[in-house]
Amino acid sequence: MKTSPSLSSLRAGVIGTGFIGPVHVEALRRLGVTVTAICDVGDLAAQAAARLKIPRAFADHRQLAACPEVDVVHITAPNRFHCQMSLAALRAGKHVVCEKPLAMNTRETARVVEAARAARRVFAVNYNVRFYPAVLQLRRLVRQGILGDIIHVNGSYLQDWLFKDTDYNWRLLPAEGGRLRAVADIGTHWMDTVSFILGARITSVFADLATWHKQRRRPLGEVQTFARADTRLRYAPYKVQTDDFGSILLRFSNGARGNLAVSQVAAGRKNCIRFEIYGSKKSAWWCSETPEQLHFGNRDAANETAVRATPAFGDGAAGFMDYPPGHVEGFPDTFKMNFRAIYSAIAGAGSTPPLFATARDGHQEVAVCEAILRSHRQRAWATV
Ligand SMILES: NC(=O)c1ccc[n+]([C@@H]2O[C@H](COP(=O)([O-])OP(=O)(O)OC[C@H]3O[C@@H](n4cnc5c(N)ncnc54)[C@H](O)[C@@H]3O)[C@@H](O)[C@H]2O)c1
Repeated sequence: MKTSPSLSSLRAGVIGTGFIGPVHVEALRRLGVTVTAICDVGDLAAQAAARLKIPRAFADHRQLAACPEVDVVHITAPNRFHCQMSLAALRAGKHVVCEKPLAMNTRETARVVEAARAARRVFAVNYNVRFYPAVLQLRRLVRQGILGDIIHVNGSYLQDWLFKDTDYNWRLLPAEGGRLRAVADIGTHWMDTVSFILGARITSVFADLATWHKQRRRPLGEVQTFARADTRLRYAPYKVQTDDFGSILLRFSNGARGNLAVSQVAAGRKNCIRFEIYGSKKSAWWCSETPEQLHFGNRDAANETAVRATPAFGDGAAGFMDYPPGHVEGFPDTFKMNFRAIYSAIAGAGSTPPLFATARDGHQEVAVCEAILRSHRQRAWATV
């Protein structure tokens, strides 16, 4: 009889050593998974391998995918590489964890969905926000009907790291990040999370997108994600073709309505994802700035606040929390818990359907983005 590998016997290789690659490495190690290989361009892989104590370094992603000491390939390179890297890893017989968005357009994402299906490998897209304990608990409450029928959802995802015209990152260039920026980069986190909680897909959208800095200045030389503007740098002006912020009306497959605001030029908001779910029995609110608290709104009784890992919070996140109440579980923990779900599925012990976002979910988010762009251009509702 074929036995399933245990979670900690699986070995990971990570492509991309910028901001989020090392977050993957750290989360994997906290889970007990060995990271055997890393990949980046030029000397960056060797430098990261030395810094992070990873035995194998590759300058070409296909070599990492072919490495027999790698079972799972994590793709944390810029968006434009996701499709080709996913296909190469699947061709090499590897399981894949790809960063969001899954690829640049639905032509590419459809190819990945089909390749993942044909390869019969586990393929996950890193919509890690699903793994905040409050999000898992909200999903449970909606499924149990505790909130009643969902009437509407309100929320936002706001950041300020691209607030200044000198703030620069590859995401600002359509050829690197895709035609949509704020919406694809952070808006899809919100849309994936809310769809996950509601158990309902977004079926149509009405979008108004805007670019505050129509021209920005690009530092000459590469800049890391979230890097501060450096006054000693020299800059070259360029025209901005991607959205700094936007407002989107949404319709969900269960009849619920939604409205979402997204911005990367909201001074003071570092990484604030927030949603309020209004049901026919009661409401629930959550914000990533206070991730341990889940708020409930009542019409006739006092409102309530529940703290993670207490009885009032509920056990919808059981198995995906490691610390007692009062010891905050936040952003890095969502990666650990997402990987726990993914690696359990690889080891043959995951839940059905999986809690993590699949290639199909990643395809859906890119399809929503395309509908959002269509709606914005046509100034009309667009069907996903
Ligand atoms: N889930 C999340 O919360 C989250 C957060 C941040 C970024 N991301 C996603 O992760 C991806 C990377 O974002 P980032 O902020 O880490 O970017 P980054 O620019 O900081 O890092 C990207 C790294 O990829 C490397 N790279 C570029 N081309 C490569 C190639 N051909 N082969 C190997 N490596 C290559 C770069 O040299 C760089 O080190 C993006 O798709 C982004 O959307 C997700």
